[in-house]
Amino acid sequence: MSFETQAIDTTDKVAFYAELAQQARGLLHGERDRIANAANFAALVWYAVPRINWCGFYFFDGTELVVGPFQGKPACVRIALGRGVCGTAATTRETQLVADVNAFPGHIACDSASRSEVVVPLVVEGVLLGVWDVDSPEPGRFDDDDVRGMQALCEVFLQSLAQSLKTEAAA
Ligand code: SME
Repeated sequence: MSFETQAIDTTDKVAFYAELAQQARGLLHGERDRIANAANFAALVWYAVPRINWCGFYFFDGTELVVGPFQGKPACVRIALGRGVCGTAATTRETQLVADVNAFPGHIACDSASRSEVVVPLVVEGVLLGVWDVDSPEPGRFDDDDVRGMQALCEVFLQSLAQSLKTEAAA
């Protein structure tokens, strides 16, 4: 199977994210493997979203966050809960929108080019699965439309896993 990513007009952000969520639904449709879907999801976002230098997953292993599929420069492998932007998103279970990473206490600089970021916690039925992290080399790159758009995209990712997560929980 080949997947043709369609260039999406980025002038209207709300429409852009709606279209991207639609593409993500198509891309992940029929597959439940977490790593496969995470890898394709990261690649889709990387090629569609302008002005970013890293996007990817950290999955919770029961103790800390461990890097998963991503696009961009090699990253820190493990992040303790509560540390940096990712660890804060995981602990608070609230999306973190950081306009200036240098002003964020404990920010972990995996790529020194990163200046702003959005991190969405991935929580399924009260259980922390991990976080989705998107970084930009531009200060203040992300706004509330990006937050809502990334949250909606993460919902598509989580829905693609829904059946396999239920099976794991039942095992
Ligand atoms: N920025 C993150 C670290 C992960 S990297 O950016 C890939 C943080 O402070 O949580």
